[in-house]
Amino acid sequence: MNSGHFIVLEGLDGSGKTSIARRLSQFLVEKNIDAILTKEPTENFHRDAELEGKRDYISSMRLFFEFTADRITHSEVIGKWVSEGKTVVCDRFLYSSLAYQGSIICKKFESDEDGIEWMREVSRVIHLKPEMCIYLDIDPETAMSRISRRMDSASGFEELEFLRDVRNTYLTLPECREGMIDASKSLEDTLESVKSMIKSRLRLW
Ligand code: TMP
Repeated sequence: MNSGHFIVLEGLDGSGKTSIARRLSQFLVEKNIDAILTKEPTENFHRDAELEGKRDYISSMRLFFEFTADRITHSEVIGKWVSEGKTVVCDRFLYSSLAYQGSIICKKFESDEDGIEWMREVSRVIHLKPEMCIYLDIDPETAMSRISRRMDSASGFEELEFLRDVRNTYLTLPECREGMIDASKSLEDTLESVKSMIKSRLRLW
């Protein structure tokens, strides 16, 4: 049996990632490709109410380890699907931790590069690497307006600042830069760009 494929979609909330992941996996199935859609955090993720919305160093460290623990199990399942010949579309993976938790954790390191390198080192227990990472790029203002969070409150501004840091961190990751797609366009146009990137790189159809 031929080995399958592992495609990851990344981006800020509001980038259209979840809708694109769903539409993409439907499209692959229509092309007679044995595709499966999955996401992180998984449903097994231990949601700690104490950490919800916290942006400090300790909470981010704890979240990083919790997301990583979830990913260790998830990557075993994904690896099995890929070995069975399935094409796995995964909504978020390691790069979400590097961007979201990394943008806070890295401030305690000598440099951002050192921080990301440390997070990658910890994540080496996860042997599975995506064949392709597609990063849906959107500016944080558009992301905020799409998810209709309040922009005029103090917490809205804090959130915007955070999303700016997250996006900047995403843009430093080679995997995301290589697979970057402008997601400020309509969902249809963005989906077409995603399909053509996959077609040209993986030749699945
Ligand atoms: P949700 O499934 O509840 O929508 O959670 C998605 C949120 O989780 C999103 O805001 C990004 C965040 N997240 C991280 O901060 N780090 C991670 O490693 C992952 C997988 C998600």
